[in-house]
Amino acid sequence: MPRVQEKAKILESHREAEGIYRLVLYAPKIVPTARPGQFVMVRVASEGADPLLARPFSFYRLHKDDGLCEILLRVVGTGTRLLTRRTPGSSVDVVGPLGRGFTAPTSSEETVVLVAGGIGIAPLRALLDHMLATTHKNHPERLHLYYGARSAGELIALHALQRAGVVTVVSTDDGSAGEAGTVLDAMRKRWEASAQMPNRLYACGSLPMQVNVARWIRGRNILVEMSLESMMACGIGACLGCALPAVDPEAPHEPRYLHVCQDGPVLDPRRIQWDKLQPVMARPLTFTSL
Ligand SMILES: Cc1cc2nc3c(=O)[nH]c(=O)nc-3n(C[C@H](O)[C@H](O)[C@H](O)COP(=O)(O)OP(=O)(O)OC[C@H]3O[C@@H](n4cnc5c(N)ncnc54)[C@H](O)[C@@H]3O)c2cc1C
Ligand code: FES
Repeated sequence: MPRVQEKAKILESHREAEGIYRLVLYAPKIVPTARPGQFVMVRVASEGADPLLARPFSFYRLHKDDGLCEILLRVVGTGTRLLTRRTPGSSVDVVGPLGRGFTAPTSSEETVVLVAGGIGIAPLRALLDHMLATTHKNHPERLHLYYGARSAGELIALHALQRAGVVTVVSTDDGSAGEAGTVLDAMRKRWEASAQMPNRLYACGSLPMQVNVARWIRGRNILVEMSLESMMACGIGACLGCALPAVDPEAPHEPRYLHVCQDGPVLDPRRIQWDKLQPVMARPLTFTSL
């Protein structure tokens, strides 16, 4: 897949919720070959060295005919804060499309579950758009989105997806919308009571959420892909900083690594050694190890 660097013009910048922004970028060289689940490295500062590096963001929406993409970002530090201060009309250096995206379903017959935690809706929205325009155009009711957030105000794009016919189940930490509790509880409740399993499951969210999804799919015959995160300096396989401990079925006792920027960010969770993840993750784990 060709990787391109270009100066992308910021056409719009919207505050979607407290600390969550959506940027619309004109990137006509990158967008045509981009796929849901892939990402861009955005250089956040045009002058000075802070922050030195570019920051990775998933494609939230792709508008290929217009050469536009949208990214959804949560402000967590200097880089994301600087990006939200960029005004429409200014440009940012962007490299992409990067990494491996989602494998989309092949038929409308497939029942698809998507599990989104917070800002994890970003790559899943691009995938939903794709399925709604292709395989599931006439069967949006076979797309089941489990969407969890801290509170109602952080449920981005929920109404648009409901209008498109996607079956949505919402959960919030504070109970201000949907069920109070975790998104995984809501998903488990529905599918553990069902005689039939979904054909595919896609997930993106916090690390604890992803670990618990990985635990839940054990022994279940479902195709699963997750968009994973790791600290990224280069985004193109040069620094090796994004390595995650992996399982190699051919040599289970040999140390193996997958690089999120090139082998992922979309990966089969069965390939990750979740119990060895703690030392390499950006944020510490707060759950009991598998
Ligand atoms: C492939 C990929 C896709 C991503 N897509 C999105 C997206 O669509 N929307 C979005 O809001 N964010 C996304 N992220 C996370 C985003 O890149 C980070 O939040 C951002 O780089 C933080 O930059 P900063 O300068 O604001 O924070 P920093 O000042 O660098 O860090 C602030 C805090 O955030 C933590 N942090 C930084 N980067 C990461 C990371 N990659 N994973 C976990 N914790 C991190 C740091 O440890 C620190 O605690 C993605 C990350 C990856 C790897
Ligand atoms: S971020 Fe540099 S190798 Fe993956």
